[in-house]
Amino acid sequence: MRGFQPLFLGIFAIFAFSWLGMTVVPNLQIGSLNPQTDEDGADIYPMPDSGMATRGAQVYAANGCIYCHTQQVRPDYGGSDLERKWGERRSAPRDYIFQPIAFLGKVRRGPDLANVGHRQALTEKGAAAAPSPAAGAAPAPGQSPAAPGSPAAAGTPAAGTNAAAATVAASPAALPPAGTEPAANVQTSAPAMVGNAAALTADGKPLPYTAAWHHRHLYNPRSVNGDSDMPAYHFLYEKRRISGEVSPDAINFAGDVDAGPGAGWEIIPSYDAKCLVAYLMSRDQSHPLKEAKSPVIAAAPAAPATEAKK
Ligand code: HEC
Repeated sequence: MRGFQPLFLGIFAIFAFSWLGMTVVPNLQIGSLNPQTDEDGADIYPMPDSGMATRGAQVYAANGCIYCHTQQVRPDYGGSDLERKWGERRSAPRDYIFQPIAFLGKVRRGPDLANVGHRQALTEKGAAAAPSPAAGAAPAPGQSPAAPGSPAAAGTPAAGTNAAAATVAASPAALPPAGTEPAANVQTSAPAMVGNAAALTADGKPLPYTAAWHHRHLYNPRSVNGDSDMPAYHFLYEKRRISGEVSPDAINFAGDVDAGPGAGWEIIPSYDAKCLVAYLMSRDQSHPLKEAKSPVIAAAPAAPATEAKK
């Protein structure tokens, strides 16, 4: 039994020391962060996610998205994430304060998703797209769309989408109220998702990073990105026979009809799929943070994320 005491004490000390260093000290440093506000208490960032997005986070966890996707933009000294346009600044602890589980991730087989909800604003030039409340991209409750165009407001999940809408809504006529879109979209097997009817490319495909695009990508990644390695999440969608009119929710497979369900059928997102897309579309860390200065000028237009995947 000789030597048992020092052995035990040694092991205990190692655990106690790691617990102090990895739990207690970080918790003292960043355990009680609050949202950042400006002097008037306005321009609050971050904001809690909407209910749908919160549920979407569970769908994200349940489907193992974390095995291929990170949600953290490393600082410029720690990687090339900023060069790849995965964000305009590094991620900071404050970005995650409202997330019960921060899906930081470890391995990247696909692009970082910390700002996937902001890519829409960066890629939609000249085309109007209002994130569809029907698809769950609605702003957090109580969020005022105040000054949506101001760069300072462009970061909160909700204000970001508003800003996207404001900056791209060059032609208000292209933004019909949801539901007023003619049911049939001539070329396509199905109309775009409600509310995103205007967010189509010239050949009728959903514009990147709109809800309609996300659904098509999740259902069949290769119909969006020809050599995608991402698995297809068919089970989040329901295939059903078109009876009468095509459902306004049906996925738009324009330009790649083979990816779709075939004539007479349509693919409808389940509620979980809508929540997942709401979650993805609210991933947005573009709001400036005092502690995470952007090395690049934030106003510099980012390249479309398709380039950033390389
Ligand atoms: C086996 C690895 C893998 C898994 C699991 C995976 N993805 Fe992906 N994902 C990829 C790859 C590779 C790409 C890049 C090619 C593409 O766009 O399809 C990608 C791209 C994406 C994109 C487009 C990002 C951009 O910037 O263009 C989104 C959004 C996305 N994935 C969401 C998800 C979600 C949500 C899940 C879980 C339901 C998921 N992924 C699971 C590998 C994966």
